[in-house]
Amino acid sequence: WLNPGASVTLSCEVKPSSAGWRFYWYKAVPDFSTNYYRYDPLPGSISGTVENSFRIDGQKHTAGFTCRAGKGNPEYLTDYSEPKFVWTSDPHPAASLSVSPDREQHFTSESVTLNCGGNSAEWRVKRFRDGFINCSDSWEMTGSSCTINSNLSFKSVFWCESGSGEFSDAVNISVHGLLLVSPVHPVTEGASVTLSCRLRGETKLSDVIFYHNDKLIQNDSRGELKISAVSQSDEGFYKCEHSGEVSPQSWMAVKGGVFNALILLNDYFAFVCFVYYHCHK
Ligand SMILES: *[C@@H]1O[C@H](CO)[C@@H](O)[C@H](O)[C@H]1NC(C)=O
Ligand SMILES: *[C@@H]1O[C@H](CO)[C@@H](O)[C@H](O)[C@H]1NC(C)=O
Ligand SMILES: *[C@@H]1O[C@H](CO)[C@@H](O)[C@H](O)[C@H]1NC(C)=O
Repeated sequence: WLNPGASVTLSCEVKPSSAGWRFYWYKAVPDFSTNYYRYDPLPGSISGTVENSFRIDGQKHTAGFTCRAGKGNPEYLTDYSEPKFVWTSDPHPAASLSVSPDREQHFTSESVTLNCGGNSAEWRVKRFRDGFINCSDSWEMTGSSCTINSNLSFKSVFWCESGSGEFSDAVNISVHGLLLVSPVHPVTEGASVTLSCRLRGETKLSDVIFYHNDKLIQNDSRGELKISAVSQSDEGFYKCEHSGEVSPQSWMAVKGGVFNALILLNDYFAFVCFVYYHCHK
């Protein structure tokens, strides 16, 4: 994952290593006629480099790179390496990728639609986990949309590739079977709150481990975490674990009690109190 505009240094290795190689550097361009990539030489690398590293400045978009090495006269060339990708979440990519529902974390058996957009008639959605996979190999690709439907948990990077050679920005998508049930709205100081853990298809779980900011805070058979009087120090990230599966974490916000009491009066007091709340916090 790269911040748009950062520098990338590629390095290439020949095995078994020996002296006298020249290194050639390429970028991957989606090629729909071969269903894979075509490799175009990077500017400045046509005649190869003596060093086995190559620096690219100002990389703004998601891109794939590969290298190969050559030696001797006539030159013997190795195969291309596997392509390596850098992913960016560039706000203005050549091609766009939208996700619906628009979030990173999804639940198993919930459909997630990835839609590719831009100046191309042909698209594929690529997934990277341990290697590169087409959306259509596991799920359904209809026109420029891939619909993910999984009852297994996973986390992968997804992006779109167009028939005219472009990449979209990339997104993380994760699917979980276990979820933490926590309040979506801030909890008022002094109030009581109960967090629980749900596995898809099962209503109530026992033997649940709860974490607050990655620190184990409860590990027993109660199955829920009850905080009888919430204080500011309870604010933070919570997650739960059951049978080795860990839920994604959720943020629980805590708001001051005074804020709550005053907001009921009128708009003027709500304003005063809003300021007070932030000073207080
Ligand atoms: C990707 O999908 C195409 C069909 O659109 C298929 O022919 C190709 O083999 C797939 N590539 C991979 C790496 O699975
Ligand atoms: C997961 O989905 C597949 C088909 O999509 C189904 O055959 C399988 O039984 C499901 N597994 C569970 C645990 O629901
Ligand atoms: C995707 O997840 C990785 C960690 O797994 C993180 O470093 C990266 O910043 C995430 N990218 C986006 C765009 O959220």
